[in-house]
Amino acid sequence: MPSERQPEPAGPAGQVLDRGATAVAHPNIALIKYWGKRDEGLVIPNVDSLSMTLDIFPTTTTVTVSPEAAGDTVTLDGSPAEGEPRQRVVAFLDLVRELAGRSEPATVDTRNSVPTGAGLASSASGFAALALAGAAAYGLDLDPTALSRLARRGSASAARSIFGGFAICHAGHGTGAEADLSSYAEPVPVPDFDPALVIAVVNAGPKAVSSRKAMRRTVETSPLYPSWARASRTDLSQMRAALHLGDLDAVGEIAERNALGMHATMLAARPAVRYMSPDTVAVLDSVLRLRADGVPAYATMDAGPNVKVLCRPADATRVAGALHAAAPGSRVVIARRGPGARLRTEAER
Ligand code: DP6
Repeated sequence: MPSERQPEPAGPAGQVLDRGATAVAHPNIALIKYWGKRDEGLVIPNVDSLSMTLDIFPTTTTVTVSPEAAGDTVTLDGSPAEGEPRQRVVAFLDLVRELAGRSEPATVDTRNSVPTGAGLASSASGFAALALAGAAAYGLDLDPTALSRLARRGSASAARSIFGGFAICHAGHGTGAEADLSSYAEPVPVPDFDPALVIAVVNAGPKAVSSRKAMRRTVETSPLYPSWARASRTDLSQMRAALHLGDLDAVGEIAERNALGMHATMLAARPAVRYMSPDTVAVLDSVLRLRADGVPAYATMDAGPNVKVLCRPADATRVAGALHAAAPGSRVVIARRGPGARLRTEAER
């Protein structure tokens, strides 16, 4: 849990030398997907979502308040960020500054250990880390609920990465300030369920259509979207029960139908959004073969061609082998449930 704040040691003349904070956050994979917003400005989801935070691919972000600078500087994996990625970070900093009643520019340095923009949840870990480091650097004292609400303004999936293990993000109710207040993430305690998630990275390149654009188009044009959103409510309540029972087959079946249904809404959008590639389909086929061979394995996919497969930890190596055989060019990684976002202590920086 986010707890420690970076100290701000005073220099010889009493000036603040260290105005920075570093946060680490992990991506999460939704078992019940968030797809579609009802308020784009406030980033309010249309549906509740439920995810597992992973123990791999962390994002590390340092925010340093730089009063002398002419403007914000944003570095992403060692290179200056430009265009939309930079704009999203600057807009997020503006929000943090507004909440903190501050106006100084900042320097942001972000390092991802996951390819950015490839449907591997880099925006979830990215905005969770930025929310935590940004709030600490500007002296905002937020509890985890408020932090998740703040992270949501960057990317709704990021709200869930504030927490470790399983987390739900509420779509909330009402409009405007009421919607903003009621849409946040919170942990879903599931002490006895610790599955493996095997990820087949069939293509690590950036996707052709961003998830933001794809979900907008789906909401606006897909005739299947309303029925998926309705079905998602039932999926969520059944998922909660299945998690509570630690029933991998039920969790997997619900997650798989929820994700395939989401992709169906996109295929029915006009024009269609299709993230699946031939390798994606080959991996999905291998998951069916594993099940036919008696191995409980269930697929989920996000806004990209990569496939994430839920299975028992004892089967993870076998599952990884089967996914790799289906798409030999892919990189296959095994993840487990991971920790929530946290600030680095000074000793760790
Ligand atoms: C398919 O959170 O990246 O991964 O809120 O527009 O930034 P924005 O979208 P984002 O969308 C994630 C969509 C998803 C499903 C999920 O993670 O729930």
